[in-house]
Amino acid sequence: MTADGARTARAPAKINAHLAVGPLRADGFHELRTVYLAVSLFDTVTARQGDGLSLAVSGEGAGAATGADAVPTDRRNLVWRAAELLAEHAGVPADAHLEITKTIPAAAGLAGGSADAAAALVALDALWGTRADRADLLELAARLGSDVPFSLLGGVALGTGRGEQLAPVLAGRAWHWVLGIAGQGLSTPSVYAELDRLRAAGLLPDGEELLPAEPVIGALRSGPASGLATALANDLQAPALALRPELRRALGAATSAGALGAVVSGSGPTVAALAEDETAAVRLAASLAGEGVFRTVRVVTGPVPGARLV
Ligand code: C5P
Repeated sequence: MTADGARTARAPAKINAHLAVGPLRADGFHELRTVYLAVSLFDTVTARQGDGLSLAVSGEGAGAATGADAVPTDRRNLVWRAAELLAEHAGVPADAHLEITKTIPAAAGLAGGSADAAAALVALDALWGTRADRADLLELAARLGSDVPFSLLGGVALGTGRGEQLAPVLAGRAWHWVLGIAGQGLSTPSVYAELDRLRAAGLLPDGEELLPAEPVIGALRSGPASGLATALANDLQAPALALRPELRRALGAATSAGALGAVVSGSGPTVAALAEDETAAVRLAASLAGEGVFRTVRVVTGPVPGARLV
């Protein structure tokens, strides 16, 4: 805690090593079977005493559509809704000034908004002394968004339901990735809608049979990086490519530059490229940065822990 009582929490980005998407449900969501991996790109949220709610955003990617400037500073921001929800749950006034410092690009398929919401829950719980237990925070997180519970939990987890039901998964080692980040974001609902459209047109399998996650879970637990590279799978990759054809070149650039495997992260457009080890990841990042297909590249490792006070 600082002298003025401010509390800061940080939360990680995620990639999906496996993302199997079922048909559209009656509630507007899709049934998922996903393997989340938290990686070492963190946003922080600082909460201080305030009068009502106020929000400021700063950080990475000034001027870019996937940068901090693109993040709303009003009620549209998930952090704002997280504050209202926790205040209501705890029966305290929603009084706080919140500052988000972004390292995770926005609208990138990396759960940046979810990370901010999870960090806000943790920071505000400490600021307000609400002492919400872990189960309560996970329940509030699920109401905020499908990926928010995982942003709290971190590590590696199998996500089912709409992604909010989590079971921890063992990772046998640290995995090294390069994230290729685009200048333009993709809206998650539009990628799911494109998947539905391609399925309705018979251009993709209907998704009734969810692709099993065992190959990825087994590869994460043990075995060579090449095994994980082969097992990477994402049903949202085809619709993301349909909406953003240049992503095909970006995926190709990653494998040509030496990635063991490359997959679109979540609803994209970030490309997650797997490397053999940290040295190979740094080399891969340098090579991809020189290609000019990405706005920026980041070397990350995972698993890392979920949202916590710093
Ligand atoms: O849960 P969240 O608010 O992050 O989801 C954003 C949008 O992504 C949903 O409104 C829905 O269109 C889509 N989505 C989905 N199925 C999921 C998760 C998200 O269709 N399991």
